Amino acid sequence: MNRLHDADRRDFASDNYAGAHPEVLAALVEANGGHQGAYGADDYTARLQEVVADHFGAQATAWPVFNGTGANVLSLQSVLPRWGAVICADTAHIHTDENAAPERVGGLKLLTVPTPDGKLTPELVATQAWGFGDEHRAQPGAVSITQSTELGTLYSPDEVRALADQAHELGLRLHVDGARIANAAAALDLPLRAFTTDAGVDVLSLGGTKNGLLYGEAVVVLDPAADGGLGYLRKMDMQLTSKMRFVSAQLVALFESDLWLRSARHANAMAARLRSGLEGLPGVVVTRPTQANGVFVVFPAGVAEALRRRWRFYDWDVATGEARLMCSFDTTPGDVDELVAAVAAEMA
Ligand SMILES: Cc1ncc(COP(=O)(O)O)c(C=O)c1O
Repeated sequence: MNRLHDADRRDFASDNYAGAHPEVLAALVEANGGHQGAYGADDYTARLQEVVADHFGAQATAWPVFNGTGANVLSLQSVLPRWGAVICADTAHIHTDENAAPERVGGLKLLTVPTPDGKLTPELVATQAWGFGDEHRAQPGAVSITQSTELGTLYSPDEVRALADQAHELGLRLHVDGARIANAAAALDLPLRAFTTDAGVDVLSLGGTKNGLLYGEAVVVLDPAADGGLGYLRKMDMQLTSKMRFVSAQLVALFESDLWLRSARHANAMAARLRSGLEGLPGVVVTRPTQANGVFVVFPAGVAEALRRRWRFYDWDVATGEARLMCSFDTTPGDVDELVAAVAAEMA
């Protein structure tokens, strides 16, 4: 096969525009050859359980899946009854970017809450945590938060703990969409379990793709009592891969060493560099805190269009002209400086 793309081109659209980390590709080569049991009866999936237990505690179990939407839907489905509903921010990926998978595949109702910064608080959750026992209302059964959030912000361990305590008092489960959990841990400078297991989280979508895997995430059950038939549901949700060794080997490569942390720290550092470069340019408005690997910005008129001749990046809010610039494990300081210089040149 001939290479069909420019392997030196890097954009700021999403951390999943990046390819796979070379250490992940090497792990796949190691995992290849010979026969291994299918559907998770393989040595790499067994090793993944140990690696996940090291990070999240001996009680934690990992359920590899194909993608983040699958991890979220499966996690939530497993902790909710048929009549259950999920309280989430109105910017949550499960609400804005998963089509209607939570509703149609998961059969879940989402009870959304507007937030200033993508983060739920107990006060915000309370606006939807009502109607218990009322057959006319979908029954709130889980709270779902994203760490780091879709707006590039972070929950502290205390903030997660407050949500977990409230959820548990109400008989709800707390789910974390951790598509970018590594970026959160790197930014908080804390072990993964400090703001998950130790903060009362029940079930986690553990991200891999955005941090250098080809593809693959895992549902991680942190409270064994929260597992409502994950094994069966994973198959029903079409997230059970037969050659699971290759998803598990990638996750092992990421989380067995410090690769997850190195890559996330790097992506965060590139976002910090991008922010400080853009902030120095008059007329450019950086709109949100840069706590992980995303920078949100409004460029002066015409600048975004000019930049798009060279780089891809997403509009976050077309109405306000706010763009989202994401950095990934392979973003280089040169990439960042080139973009900043291009913005400066456009404005000059
Ligand atoms: C916050 C968040 N959750 C989950 C996902 C995973 O989605 P996918 O189904 O594309 O792997 C994404 C990807 O954009 C995301 O940003």
